[in-house]
Amino acid sequence: MDINGKNALITGAAAGIGQATAFALADAGAHGIALADLDENGLADTARVIEQKGARAVVGRVDVTDSDQQRAFFEEAEFELGGLDIVHNNAGTICGEPIWPETPLEKIGLVVSVNLIGVMYGTRLAVDALSRRGGGVIINTASTASLGPMPADPMYSATKTGVVNLVHASAGLAATHKIRVNAILPGMTQTQFIARTGDGTKPAEWLGPALAHATMLTTEQIAEGVMTLVQDDQRAGECLIVDNPPGVGEPPQTTRLKDPVEFYGYIAERAKALAGVN
Ligand SMILES: NC(=O)c1ccc[n+]([C@@H]2O[C@H](COP(=O)([O-])OP(=O)(O)OC[C@H]3O[C@@H](n4cnc5c(N)ncnc54)[C@H](O)[C@@H]3O)[C@@H](O)[C@H]2O)c1
Repeated sequence: MDINGKNALITGAAAGIGQATAFALADAGAHGIALADLDENGLADTARVIEQKGARAVVGRVDVTDSDQQRAFFEEAEFELGGLDIVHNNAGTICGEPIWPETPLEKIGLVVSVNLIGVMYGTRLAVDALSRRGGGVIINTASTASLGPMPADPMYSATKTGVVNLVHASAGLAATHKIRVNAILPGMTQTQFIARTGDGTKPAEWLGPALAHATMLTTEQIAEGVMTLVQDDQRAGECLIVDNPPGVGEPPQTTRLKDPVEFYGYIAERAKALAGVN
């Protein structure tokens, strides 16, 4: 897809990966971007920058766990921009501390509602909106936590594995409407999200040694992966992993898993490696 002149809707657009994706789409010549989030100040910041870059902003304080709010915002975005071509279901949250198994029940409900149900609503609404446009692309933000158990936050990893399943399962029917559905799987990325899990500069120790000491990705590196999934018309039902580089200043490790066969093959190899089995 040539992004020039196209319209997008992004959830979780007030900060982090969603904000970086909005900037990248505006740089690529998007006509309009509908920005949804709970954080109105952050939304205003994102809107100001994309307007400076020449894109039109439609801003909405939207709680993705509320289907009526999501539906109303999709309708507003379509009306204001004249249609949608790209939807990035990206808003997400993590249980954090106190860690499993002390995780409060309310946090479990919130993480499932935002990361899974919110993305399901967004995917469903996007299929209708993009069908009215004659096709388009949906990118759902999963995580490297989708690739296997995350003992420090099993609720988070369970929701992110669910996002991948949703992408695989919905890609076939969506394709009959000329809609491509893909997932981006970021590794540890320097955002507020990480700030909420540690001291603000690095991941928290409770995430475990591999994650707590990972070299952090930038939001721009994840946005670049999202842009690849938008621009390359061959990518449908695909997971793109953008994982942490081995050292500071080195490029991310990207892995393209084109379908469920490649995805589950990768998971099996990874599980064997983690278990020390050849
Ligand atoms: N940062 C990482 O290391 C990392 C790694 C893998 C995946 N992810 C995923 O990337 C996505 C974006 O996270 P980020 O790292 O940019 O963090 P972030 O905290 O900077 O951005 C998340 C945004 O989602 C918004 N949000 C949260 N709940 C919402 C709700 N109910 N309705 C609407 N908006 C809501 C927040 O206000 C925030 O602006 C999330 O889905 C997250 O799970 C992040």
